[in-house]
Amino acid sequence: MSSPRSTSAPATVVVAGATGDLGFRIAKHLLQRGATVRALLRPGSSSKPEAIALRQLGATLTEVNFDSIISLTAACAGADCVVSALSGLREVIVGMQTRLVKAAVAAGVPRFIPSDYSIDYTKLPDGSNRNLDLRREFNQRLDQQPIQATSVLNGMFMDLLTGQAPLVLFGLKRILYWGDADQPLDFTTVEDTAAFTAAAALDSATPRYLRVAGEVASIRGLQAAASAATGESFGLMRAGGLGFLATMIKVTRTLVPARDEVFPPWQGMQYMHNMFTGLPKLEPLDNDQYPEIRWTPIREVLAKREQK
Ligand SMILES: NC(=O)c1ccc[n+]([C@@H]2O[C@H](COP(=O)([O-])OP(=O)(O)OC[C@H]3O[C@@H](n4cnc5c(N)ncnc54)[C@H](OP(=O)(O)O)[C@@H]3O)[C@@H](O)[C@H]2O)c1
Repeated sequence: MSSPRSTSAPATVVVAGATGDLGFRIAKHLLQRGATVRALLRPGSSSKPEAIALRQLGATLTEVNFDSIISLTAACAGADCVVSALSGLREVIVGMQTRLVKAAVAAGVPRFIPSDYSIDYTKLPDGSNRNLDLRREFNQRLDQQPIQATSVLNGMFMDLLTGQAPLVLFGLKRILYWGDADQPLDFTTVEDTAAFTAAAALDSATPRYLRVAGEVASIRGLQAAASAATGESFGLMRAGGLGFLATMIKVTRTLVPARDEVFPPWQGMQYMHNMFTGLPKLEPLDNDQYPEIRWTPIREVLAKREQK
């Protein structure tokens, strides 16, 4: 469906969410690959340090009214692909991305990459993960639009292993888990996800879904990686079965609903529950799609944390 482009002209990619963690890195990788990058910013965001850095890297900054399909259509004109790295709840993931894809279609843009970047939500039942339910809902709308869509699925951001994901307990020297310590889990760094997404944005022949994992590791694999990274022996700590985790999610959601937060504690717990069921395991993996991309292993991410 993509329109032929002169081989001499660099591709133009519109990036929504380019002031965010992932979006900034996607824009950076696109520029490194020689693309013309147009970052869509909400009014007032041009003075953010990330926006200033984007301009310095060579991106064009375009302030748009994200509530207006007309404004978004003008901003998408002439682009080869629109990449969304927006983050938010229903208004952003379903509402704003629907306006964005309609604008891309109106502007004649041939390709669209939605802000998915997750475990495989296509295999999860409704209600098991609030944020991924929103992605499934948006992608159903996306599939109604006359545009070539590609979703990048990358598992859990590996960087979370040294941050919000409470799996590697550095102080206690334990790996915390629920269910089965041998269940394979998918992890990819934010940086590698961005590098892959940029390559996909410039590839006019991508399929509907691309699945990647910087490393597939079970809880026992995390244990080995943590021990290798720190030079200290890590043990396992099983908090309970998946039924117990499901109960904890319900209790946490009742006590701390935090409905307006994108990542409240119970949502992170839903993510881990999903992963431990094995349902959203990414398969088959498309890691070799762009052979120049080197996948960062878990041990390296954990070792960097040690050096901080
Ligand atoms: N797989 C995983 O483990 C994992 C973990 C984290 C995130 N993710 C996913 O990765 C994607 C990007 O997340 P991120 O962490 O990079 O997000 P982020 O750092 O919070 O950045 C979000 C971006 O969206 C923009 N945005 C948010 N609300 C907006 C609105 N109402 N109007 C216009 N722009 C708006 C922000 O613009 P401003 O700068 O103007 O605020 C920013 O550019 C999301 O799909 C997220 O769910 C995946």
